[in-house]
Amino acid sequence: MNTQLSLPKQTHEFLSQYLQAGDIVIDATCGNGWDTLFLSQQVYPHGLVYAIDIQTAAIEATQARLQLADVDTEVRYIQSGHEQLQTIIAPENLGKIKAIMFNLGYLPRGNKQIITQTNTTLLALNSALKMLLPSGYVTVLAYPGHLGGDTETVAVNKWALALDATVFKLTVVNSPQAHVYAPKLFIVQKLVAIG
Ligand SMILES: C[S@@+](CC[C@H](N)C(=O)[O-])C[C@H]1O[C@@H](n2cnc3c(N)ncnc32)[C@H](O)[C@@H]1O
Repeated sequence: MNTQLSLPKQTHEFLSQYLQAGDIVIDATCGNGWDTLFLSQQVYPHGLVYAIDIQTAAIEATQARLQLADVDTEVRYIQSGHEQLQTIIAPENLGKIKAIMFNLGYLPRGNKQIITQTNTTLLALNSALKMLLPSGYVTVLAYPGHLGGDTETVAVNKWALALDATVFKLTVVNSPQAHVYAPKLFIVQKLVAIG
């Protein structure tokens, strides 16, 4: 990985080596649509992207970005909390998801009161691990620099370190800006199928 790149770009660079046409993937916080656009380009053709966000503004921004980019991948837009992941994903796709991206915090240039919350983030992360294909990845970009994001980042770190190392491989990537408020990237790979 090119550690001089921003963490969102490192996440894309990392996943681009692994994703293929036809994959099923999830953007669990679609926000302004940058990650959904990236995913839709990676899995084209025949792939499927679930783009999830709790707020209308994010769903609309993501739809607009994809329209502008003119990518033909199937994207299912779902306005919901990602803690509902288990019911959002079609039953036939459970266990077949190649990658699930979480980019936590608030919508840039949007309402900064609507932020991901530790308890629902952890619920969603645990659901995400269950629906991954063996060898699939969950990526979590966490931002300790805002109120709520600090405790959420600590909780995600604790959650990641507590994962069973015989089932999940964890990589933690620090931001090139080495200070305490800098974002952190967690990459979790599922190594084997779980029940
Ligand atoms: C940092 S932004 C995501 C950026 C986005 N991935 C992109 O590429 O532009 C975080 C997003 O998380 C969303 N969010 C907050 N709580 C959520 C929840 N419980 N479920 C799903 N999305 C949530 C916010 O609405 C916001 O749009």
